Amino acid sequence: MKPTLALTLAAVLALGVSTTSTTRAQDAGKVDFEKQVLPVLKESCFKCHEKEHEDGGKIKKPKGGLRLDGAAVIMKGGKEYPNENVVAGKPEASWLVKTMALPDSDDLAMPPEGKGDRVSAANIDLIKKWISEGANFGAWKGVE
Ligand code: HEC
Repeated sequence: MKPTLALTLAAVLALGVSTTSTTRAQDAGKVDFEKQVLPVLKESCFKCHEKEHEDGGKIKKPKGGLRLDGAAVIMKGGKEYPNENVVAGKPEASWLVKTMALPDSDDLAMPPEGKGDRVSAANIDLIKKWISEGANFGAWKGVE
């Protein structure tokens, strides 16, 4: 094989690889609520923000009137910040993610101090991105 042909081939191959990875990056670029955001909420928030239910003979009500176990109730928000839990397109106005980013010392830090690990910076960024992209739940409806 002549060197020039080898080079051309290498260039073509490189181009092919970069095109495919760009396409993949775009597909993977949109945050998938059910696959990526929901597990974070389940892990860090559900124990206090689920639909009223009985647990060991005790009635557990969602704290702050906020439920995070369904798409409609996530958008509805809680007592203090109705309709501002998730403001589509505006992570900076969305309490869901604002409370996660507050320092432990803040009264509104979620989960509250001593009640669970802080959400990782990577997961906070992921949720901000999901909100920026329009807060689309896909097919997920959760608990009504
Ligand atoms: C151990 C219980 C507990 C956990 C876990 C918890 N929260 Fe809360 N949350 C509360 C309580 C209690 C309130 C009511 C406000 C207060 O008293 O600080 C509240 C209120 C809120 C509010 C304000 C709702 C409103 O409009 O009044 C938001 C937003 C919130 N939580 C988000 C979250 C998120 C997001 C997570 C998970 C990262 C989470 N919480 C995890 C207990 C919890």
